[in-house]
Amino acid sequence: MEATCLFIAQAIIAQPNFENSFVCLNKGNYTSNSTYKANLNHLLSTLTSNTEIDYGFYNSSYGQDPDKVYAIGLCRGDVKPDECRSCLYDNTKLLTQDCPNQKEAMKQDEYCILRYSFRNIFGIMEDEPFYALHNRNDQSGNLETYNQDLWTLLDGLRNQAAAGGSLRKFAEVKSTGINFKTQYALVQCTPDLSQTDCSDCLLSAFGLIPLCCDGKIGAVIFTPSCNFRYEKYPFFGPVADIAPPSTNTSAAKGNDGNKSQTVIIVGSIIAFVVVVVLIIISCIYLRVRKPREKPEM
Ligand SMILES: *[C@@H]1O[C@H](CO)[C@@H](O)[C@H](O)[C@H]1NC(C)=O
Ligand SMILES: *[C@@H]1O[C@H](CO)[C@@H](O)[C@H](O)[C@H]1NC(C)=O
Ligand SMILES: *[C@@H]1O[C@H](CO)[C@@H](O)[C@H](O)[C@H]1NC(C)=O
Ligand SMILES: *[C@@H]1O[C@H](CO)[C@@H](O)[C@H](O)[C@H]1NC(C)=O
Repeated sequence: MEATCLFIAQAIIAQPNFENSFVCLNKGNYTSNSTYKANLNHLLSTLTSNTEIDYGFYNSSYGQDPDKVYAIGLCRGDVKPDECRSCLYDNTKLLTQDCPNQKEAMKQDEYCILRYSFRNIFGIMEDEPFYALHNRNDQSGNLETYNQDLWTLLDGLRNQAAAGGSLRKFAEVKSTGINFKTQYALVQCTPDLSQTDCSDCLLSAFGLIPLCCDGKIGAVIFTPSCNFRYEKYPFFGPVADIAPPSTNTSAAKGNDGNKSQTVIIVGSIIAFVVVVVLIIISCIYLRVRKPREKPEM
């Protein structure tokens, strides 16, 4: 019985890889010959061919209600414009395959995020659903100190990113804290959010760490409006210039070798908590029930 509880708990979080990091929101379907589909295709192709935007944020809509489509593309702050476009291009292909006929969907990749919907998603803070991956390795040493140091680090980045302008809300740091040795971290919001909304979104996302990634040496958590990541190894390059274009292009990009060390968690905060609580309750119940049966007999 206890083994069953353990199995359920593991089944929820066992599903490796960045490549599967898409969420089909299941808020409605379009048919393959619909106006919505034509609008979506048009929008996504103009989005990924826009060469004027050099700050890594794309927000555009296309069509007339009820077939109007809204899309957001967001690249990590250290990703250069051409890489950004190609990341978004790849993800438009993947997302329309992964979530066929879905009116609302999002894909979170290492370098870029793509969302589209039938409703206006611009300037609106959304911290659900979340998508999390974490490193399998645990932090050694005093966990409480580690968590405190991590919080301090992330919180500093939160303030910095939230204070960014309407073109970019991004901050990254390499920290050499006492307990950390070295920790690399970045945080990001879609820049159409207000400073307060960005700050709130990140706070809410940091609050997921205990649910998914407690004590892990690295993790990445995405919500529709904001995301953050921390690792022991360098996974980002220098923040890309907005304009003029950067002359130095050498960037320490993410280490593919670490992909296999991740575990994925998808869900809404509430659903996740409910499931965990149900498992805990059923496990406690089973544990409690067993010993009782004997004395009664
Ligand atoms: C959309 O289509 C999928 C797959 O065919 C189906 O499972 C889902 O229930 C549909 N969603 C809505 C909102 O109709
Ligand atoms: C789409 O296809 C269906 C049948 O597959 C048809 O009934 C419908 O009229 C078509 N709609 C348009 C806008 O062409
Ligand atoms: C798109 O984003 C830019 C930059 O954040 C912002 O200035 C603009 O108002 C946004 N457009 C819409 C339609 O939300
Ligand atoms: C570019 O980066 C490399 C390695 O990071 C460094 O050696 C070089 O000096 C940099 N060049 C400029 C122009 O900043």
